[in-house]
Amino acid sequence: MSSFKTLDDLGDITGKVALVRVDLNLPMKDGSATDVSRVEAVKPTILELAEKGAKVLLLAHYGRPKGQRFSTMSTSFVQGDVEKVLDKEIMFIPEVMGPVVEQSIGILANGDIGLLDNVRFWPGEEANDPEFARGMAAHGDFYVNDAFSAAHRAHASTEGLAHHLPAYAGRAMEAELKALDAALGNPEAPVAAVVGGAKVSTKLDVLTNLVGKVQHLIIGGGMANTFLAAKGVDVGKSLCEHELTATANRIIDEAAHAGCTVHLPYDVVVAKEFAANPASLRTCNVHEVADDEMILDVGPLATEALADVLKTCRTLVWNGPMGAFETEPFDTATVALARTAAALTQDGSLISVAGGGDTVAALAHAGVKDEFTFVSTAGGAFLEWMEGKPLPGVAALTA
Ligand code: 3PG
Repeated sequence: MSSFKTLDDLGDITGKVALVRVDLNLPMKDGSATDVSRVEAVKPTILELAEKGAKVLLLAHYGRPKGQRFSTMSTSFVQGDVEKVLDKEIMFIPEVMGPVVEQSIGILANGDIGLLDNVRFWPGEEANDPEFARGMAAHGDFYVNDAFSAAHRAHASTEGLAHHLPAYAGRAMEAELKALDAALGNPEAPVAAVVGGAKVSTKLDVLTNLVGKVQHLIIGGGMANTFLAAKGVDVGKSLCEHELTATANRIIDEAAHAGCTVHLPYDVVVAKEFAANPASLRTCNVHEVADDEMILDVGPLATEALADVLKTCRTLVWNGPMGAFETEPFDTATVALARTAAALTQDGSLISVAGGGDTVAALAHAGVKDEFTFVSTAGGAFLEWMEGKPLPGVAALTA
């Protein structure tokens, strides 16, 4: 892993202004966040800097306002949630540079925290305009990036600032990069990847990258149907991207070449309608799916076999559920496999890293979110990392 500076490399920061990029793009309902994991993730960095006497300015985006100021997308909406998690009052500053920011810094005492407004209100952010980055940098003594989940964006606050101020990875970024390196950068073999979710089309690059890196590729969710169809299985009225069967076959061939075993379900849970506990629910061999049935989960025999595969592995990287886990009983395979991975992790025999919105929700549903080695709060950035793409926000820290 290329090296980057962390908070351990900071000298005396008493009275210094820290510009800290965090991800406060929180899912909201009725004016408050439904999930504050991203705030919890950056809490150690913010409190450490504050305790060391810095004036901490939080820099974040919220939504996609595309360079315009929308009152509905102000970061002031998440101020209350951030204060609750930090258990500290913070000052909202309705700009990201200029006299208002300068005056606010004058008001903040050492150890105080300010929250700047949505950096995407300014077009210079997404354009990664160096002038815009310089304008923000003028207020800070150093820059800390603790927003891995926004690191796939080459924006002024995620990438540009690192070129104008001494740049450091925050604690969450540091943990994320170490975990990801342990999972795919320099993993202990054998490595298994679980890739699930609805569509192959959204994860083509992920699959192509993984077959060259892992020894076991476990495919679940709706995307497994496309692979089954590619192998000549009649998947009935299951979700299936028939136009991608040739691509699926190419991936299977590449895997065979690279010595990666692709695991597809050989028994499945099917129903005639997608509803909770439908009357038509049954389990069958993949070759017995009727024309009017759809596959909604991996069957019990395949789940057990997959658990046995995990028992032979040292490292696991997981993205995407195995079935339609939000509707019972189609959560069964996801829950069972997640619990196996969690138990192996707790025994010390497996390093398990998971990421992506649905995956985190699935692990939380299985009650094992805290029992994996590392669960990433990133969505798009985690996928791009799984695709093997360099992340501009990370590259700028390691340059
Ligand atoms: C996310 O929510 O995944 C990150 O905050 C990035 O947001 P974006 O996709 O709008 O860049």
